[in-house]
Amino acid sequence: MRILITGAGGFLGGRLVQRLAPTHEVIALVRRAPASPRAAARYVEQDLGRPLDRAQLPAQLDAIIHQAALIDGAGQADELLFRVNVIATWELLRYAEAAGCARFVHASTGGVYGCRNRPFVESDPFNPMDLYSLTKAQAELAVQAAPGDFHRVVLRYFFPYGVGTPNPIPQWVRRALSDDPLPVSRRGVPRMNPLHVDDAVEATVAALQLNQRAVVNIAGDEVTTIAALAQLAAAHAGRQANLVTVADDTLLPYYRADLVADTTRMRQLLRFSPSISLAEGIAELARDANQADAH
Ligand SMILES: NC(=O)c1ccc[n+]([C@@H]2O[C@H](COP(=O)([O-])OP(=O)(O)OC[C@H]3O[C@@H](n4cnc5c(N)ncnc54)[C@H](OP(=O)(O)O)[C@@H]3O)[C@@H](O)[C@H]2O)c1
Repeated sequence: MRILITGAGGFLGGRLVQRLAPTHEVIALVRRAPASPRAAARYVEQDLGRPLDRAQLPAQLDAIIHQAALIDGAGQADELLFRVNVIATWELLRYAEAAGCARFVHASTGGVYGCRNRPFVESDPFNPMDLYSLTKAQAELAVQAAPGDFHRVVLRYFFPYGVGTPNPIPQWVRRALSDDPLPVSRRGVPRMNPLHVDDAVEATVAALQLNQRAVVNIAGDEVTTIAALAQLAAAHAGRQANLVTVADDTLLPYYRADLVADTTRMRQLLRFSPSISLAEGIAELARDANQADAH
């Protein structure tokens, strides 16, 4: 297949390029081309804060995997989040149709559901609790509404983690290793089922094979808590994590209830099950944190 991957320099996108480039023709959309590319892909520079320049993209394409998103909009104008996360998605959808794409795989987030004390199923309503998640919910609506007869698969990732993830799991690991106090809820919320990035990549590759429209939660097998993750990490330093229990109203709104995905559809539709345990994934993050400290 000839596949365009956006966000190709990012945490998930970069790994997808490496995974798919050996067996597919990959066009890697990046804000800035890498000095020494890690994969045999054609790198195309595009700032998605600006209109999509179709002239530098292929006229024909088989698939788009849209990973690019502005996640941490802190210090940026609010409108840039709408521009990058929603308008650029719409432009890529229109381009997908014009280029004769057969499929569009869209990276979304479990954050579109908000938080709740039972596992989320894909038919649950949107309840975004911050601007980023609001724009991700709007991008999903754009994916569903765009004209064209290509298959579209929306993947709602739940805490994909590994070295370099923009989510806070590596920070919790570092704090646990260095004995820094880590605030956790008295009630043990949020419970969550994170997924190692290598598994998230495999789930995304599986979605590329799907011949239907679908929205699918992408999450791990094991339900855990911030405290349990910290204890797993602290064990690598031979100690207990320094947990400080706090009242719920001092936690981020997203952390005042659970963030657990029901993964029935992921298993049935994608025929995918995670293979990397939390113990293995946290051990990798602990090793990385220790190496960073040693330098
Ligand atoms: N990691 C998570 O915890 C998580 C959870 C749920 C959903 N997701 C979703 O998964 C997808 C991939 O995220 P990730 O974890 O790989 O995060 P990431 O490493 O921050 O990747 C996002 C990518 O988007 C690119 N991007 C941002 N603004 C851009 C712009 N103006 N023009 C062009 N590219 C731009 C970034 O490019 P630069 O490298 O140039 O900044 C980066 O490569 C996103 O859609 C995200 O919403 C991630």
